[in-house]
Amino acid sequence: MTRSEKISSSCLAIALVLSASAGSALAADSKPTVHPWMNSALSPDARAELVLKQMSAAEKQSLVHGIYPIAVLFLPPKQIPADAVGSAGYVPGVARLGIPALQETDASLGIANPGNIRPNDVATALPSSLATAASFDADIAYAGGATIGKEAHQKGFNVLLAGGVNLARDPRNGRNFEYLGEDPLLAGVLDGAHVRGIQDQHVISTVKHYAVNDQETNRNYIDSVIDEKSMRESDLLAFQIAIEQGKPGSVMCSYNLINGVWGCGNDFLLNKVLKGDWQYPGWVMSDWGAVHALDYAMKGLDQQSAVEFDTKPFFAEPLTQALKDGSVPAGRIDDMARRILRSMFAVGIVDHPPVKSPVDAAAGAAVAKKTAEAGIVLLKNSVDVLPIAKTATKIAVIGGNANVGVISGGGSSQVIPAGSMELPFGGGGIGGLLGKVVYHPSSPLEAIKKLAPNAAVKFSDGRYLSDAVRLAKWADVVVVFGTKWQAEGGDVPDLTLPDGQDALIDAVASANAKTVVVLETGNPVAMPWVSKAAAVMEAWYPGARGGEAIADVLFGVVNPSGRLPISFPADIAQNPRPQIAGYDVEFPQMGGDFDKAKTIPVRYTEGSDIGYRWMAKKALKPLFSFGYGLSYTMFAYSNLAVTGGDTVTVAFDVTNTGSQAGKDTPQVYLTNAAGETARLIGFSKVDLKPGETKHVTLTADRRLLADFDTAAHGWKIKGGTYTVTLAKSAADPVVSSSAQVTAAVVKP
Ligand code: BGC
Repeated sequence: MTRSEKISSSCLAIALVLSASAGSALAADSKPTVHPWMNSALSPDARAELVLKQMSAAEKQSLVHGIYPIAVLFLPPKQIPADAVGSAGYVPGVARLGIPALQETDASLGIANPGNIRPNDVATALPSSLATAASFDADIAYAGGATIGKEAHQKGFNVLLAGGVNLARDPRNGRNFEYLGEDPLLAGVLDGAHVRGIQDQHVISTVKHYAVNDQETNRNYIDSVIDEKSMRESDLLAFQIAIEQGKPGSVMCSYNLINGVWGCGNDFLLNKVLKGDWQYPGWVMSDWGAVHALDYAMKGLDQQSAVEFDTKPFFAEPLTQALKDGSVPAGRIDDMARRILRSMFAVGIVDHPPVKSPVDAAAGAAVAKKTAEAGIVLLKNSVDVLPIAKTATKIAVIGGNANVGVISGGGSSQVIPAGSMELPFGGGGIGGLLGKVVYHPSSPLEAIKKLAPNAAVKFSDGRYLSDAVRLAKWADVVVVFGTKWQAEGGDVPDLTLPDGQDALIDAVASANAKTVVVLETGNPVAMPWVSKAAAVMEAWYPGARGGEAIADVLFGVVNPSGRLPISFPADIAQNPRPQIAGYDVEFPQMGGDFDKAKTIPVRYTEGSDIGYRWMAKKALKPLFSFGYGLSYTMFAYSNLAVTGGDTVTVAFDVTNTGSQAGKDTPQVYLTNAAGETARLIGFSKVDLKPGETKHVTLTADRRLLADFDTAAHGWKIKGGTYTVTLAKSAADPVVSSSAQVTAAVVKP
């Protein structure tokens, strides 16, 4: 029996643990008596309450702190429990009561395997979350979640540290690829669907990193300064929607400070907003190394993750003492444990423990490919160079290690599928451990060759401009790749493509007018060569089958349908903060003294006007706008009808007026909210055959029609005439109409 099989079977066994008196009952009628909280007909709250009553003080406390179940040199030595599966976190269970250990792993893009702790245990790598966001399709987000949730379950994990939903306020942020873009509605809806997909597999998901954790530079020492109204209408709204729609078992609080208070000790965010206003019933776990004081227990933190990452195991002995001397009341430890237990029952990790079984790699790869295809955004196709003509006989493929695979983003979310190529990045600490540029073994070059069996396809690695230019001149059509690696723990200084790739693309596009640029990036990039390129395609980090997905779009096997979930600025000067706060100051990545006096404010003066809203407010013209993306077919809108009342309902027809099947993403923006810039209030993904028309109806979430009013403590809908615009992107309105909306205050 393997270690994980033992875990699964022991979980099953302990679910049927007999009480002392039940032992004699078994002898009498051979029927095992199960613990009353094992009755799945009871509510999760009732079950949690029943088991809590049976727990000793020590057992309750054991639930509220965990370890990093991996021996790492720079962390204090520890005993690794025999049943730990091995990944980012482990919290012991209470075997005598049938409560399993929490086996935690990263994350949103697939099952991580830090430091190859589970030798050669590979997993499906989904495309970056930004690619999922570009699908504008909750079904795609759900399918990705269900795939990785299932793999987690099959590997012995019952908690996925997934659900990253921080908003993209800066196109240099090293973790934007793990998040879902700049708009709270899009990000919240897709995150909710992703979390639902995971949890339907009986694996708890987090949403993270709560909140306003919008830059990586000095993430432990950055103070996000933002007023409450703006925060509620932007970053918090994304979390709120994701939590309502996904019902995550846990929320992970963040490293940064928010208005002078660290995220995991932030009474306002945790107690007042999350548990108070939103009535969140699950538990708050800390990010790894984000706990700096014991009193975080009173500020709303329920569980200290991986205590070795913090300066003290606050929720172990220090909390025991605090409970003894009454500075933390007994009711609070009950609340902490109850929340954890409740989520265990609600998501089904007690009733459906992980069962070790082989992962269906082919099924995972198919979902990864579909996600990549849905997320690829065609940005330019000036001379209809795409799809590549069947008559092309000489195709040049240049750069981006396209002969090897597709690049992925780094950090705790890194997934290593079978056959990946890893280039170590080096350095010490956590960066050294996780810092590898990983190429997923899905070579775009090979995929292109397969789709062009009659063409000569030649490759240049692009290291020498003269070679690349010579090849470009030879070809009928050129596909040149631009890649940019980004990773957790740092931001990039600017929007260029590194290693001279902008010069390479410029030279190649100058040499051949039929040059297609394929970008594999974790963020928007500048495109100084854009006027010379015939076509540009953003493929993000496209995951385990990225090469095939790229080739399918290049050759028209798949009609591109992605839309930008993040604005591409024309220049970084368009960003509210052209300089990254604290970029030149160096704090330790992990640890440090957490001296409040040293923290650096990052002032989010744009408030809730992020991305496209900022651009509109300042009359800036982006390189490519939020919501933008081309297709190989065309769509038209008609019969717009808007009705009012408590909210607005928008109905219209979408017709595919072109000659091939395709998917459109009509977007509805509120365009006249008093004193506000336009905001997305609805979107839909519509699949249409040539000539086909479909009717779409969208009803706006009332919060999107409101301003958050701190005095009224709610969402205030002013009432009156509300104009909405049906659009192709935030910068491409098609038709508008209005309706009367009733004034109201909606609860926070
Ligand atoms: C990251 C989290 C991650 C955790 C565990 C932290 O550094 O911020 O997103 O889940 O590590 O790996």
